[in-house]
Amino acid sequence: MNPTSPHEHAGAHLDAIRQSYDTVAADYARSVKDPGALDPVSRAVLSAFAELVASPGLGPTADVGCGPGKVTAYLTELGIPAFGVDLSPRMIELARAAHPGLRFDVGPMSALAACDGELGGVLAFYSTHHLPPAELPQVYEEFHRALAPGGHLLLVTRVGEEEHQRRTYGYGDGDPAPFDSYRLPADRIAGLLERAGFAITAQTLQAPEEGAKRPVAGFLARKPAVDNVP
Ligand SMILES: C[S@@+](CC[C@H](N)C(=O)[O-])C[C@H]1O[C@@H](n2cnc3c(N)ncnc32)[C@H](O)[C@@H]1O
Repeated sequence: MNPTSPHEHAGAHLDAIRQSYDTVAADYARSVKDPGALDPVSRAVLSAFAELVASPGLGPTADVGCGPGKVTAYLTELGIPAFGVDLSPRMIELARAAHPGLRFDVGPMSALAACDGELGGVLAFYSTHHLPPAELPQVYEEFHRALAPGGHLLLVTRVGEEEHQRRTYGYGDGDPAPFDSYRLPADRIAGLLERAGFAITAQTLQAPEEGAKRPVAGFLARKPAVDNVP
């Protein structure tokens, strides 16, 4: 039997995540907090990002792994032209139903439907932790490709010590589904972002909230006006 190619492996991994989020989508949408009800630090980080991407002349912001689109809508309320992208067709159905005036696309964050330099912002809000670490460089390069020089990335994720968790989650009383998650050290994420050509402009580290075990890191990063990819 032929060994599985890296491409086939990535496809299988995306299929599994898509299927799991399709299963939990409705319960996730019901249970996830509205961004306006998030803790003050999370709201401050989102506001800072919104202010940065509001710079005149910058293009729209892609909310990658947008789920039911609550954060996409929040950015729009803050005056940012934003659209959502998600692997899960069910999540996108829910996002479109809840926010009929906004654009939501089904697709992987590793291949954005945007021309080179088209975007003013990329937001990855709790959506990159299912990617195996080996896939992060390509995904960060894709964010960098799609951003205009001077554009901004905000990536928010839980961090850990190179942990790989395979767990079954349900939201509310809904059907549970299996999820693989990877928790990397914040320094490793920052290093990979820099290697993809980003300049880190700010980094936050929030202690785990009650009931959670891992801290949350936020990375505000800029695609320099003059490209610095090594
Ligand atoms: C924990 S949810 C977060 C949703 C939303 N950002 C929020 O904060 O409510 C993670 C989302 O990322 C999506 N996702 C995971 N891997 C993805 C990928 N490779 N490309 C696009 N979306 C992905 C999932 O389908 C899911 O909707």
